[in-house]
Amino acid sequence: MEPDPSVEYRQFDGLPNGDVLTGLLRLHQLVFGDGQADRLLQEAIKRHRLLTLVAMAGQQVVGYKIGYERKPGHFYSWVGAVSPGFRRRGIASELMRRQHAWCREQGYGTIRTTTKNKWRDMLILNLRHGFDIIGVYVDEQGEPKLILEKRLRP
Ligand SMILES: CC(C)(COP(=O)(O)OP(=O)(O)OC[C@H]1O[C@@H](n2cnc3c(N)ncnc32)[C@H](O)[C@@H]1OP(=O)(O)O)[C@@H](O)C(=O)NCCC(=O)NCCS
Repeated sequence: MEPDPSVEYRQFDGLPNGDVLTGLLRLHQLVFGDGQADRLLQEAIKRHRLLTLVAMAGQQVVGYKIGYERKPGHFYSWVGAVSPGFRRRGIASELMRRQHAWCREQGYGTIRTTTKNKWRDMLILNLRHGFDIIGVYVDEQGEPKLILEKRLRP
């Protein structure tokens, strides 16, 4: 799918600040529920080499993807979402493409992510973009969590 010219992509080392952070947290909370914005902020400060990619339609944050270094050479794609009114327009795919390109440039060899059956759209998106399921465990809520990984180099 051709990128939508009305959507602009921005990249930040760490989290963005100001209005972009506010918009990102609003979208995060809308998709993942109350209290999740605070959790995201608390978790983000513990992480090393965090990278945030944001999709903007004018001043509105309509998508984001955040990842960080899991261990040297290995990146973890942590969380992301696209605003309900902007889905199926290739925004998540473009955020992923940019994240992977940055990871390759930075010398990461693998990228890992985890998801649940209930985040089915993300699971399909990840499989379509070359991730393999490499494991599964049961999380604190008793739900199966799928571990996916993609090699960034041949
Ligand atoms: C998952 C999510 C980020 C996808 O965003 P998006 O911008 O709509 O994704 P794209 O348009 O790039 O979709 C790319 C491909 O993923 C697959 N896909 C995405 N949404 C899908 C859906 N609802 N049903 C089936 N396939 C889907 C399709 O193969 C799609 O390609 P196509 O449109 O050419 O068929 C979005 O649905 C979302 O925010 N979901 C809720 C949050 C979430 O699940 N986060 C992950 C938690 S781990």
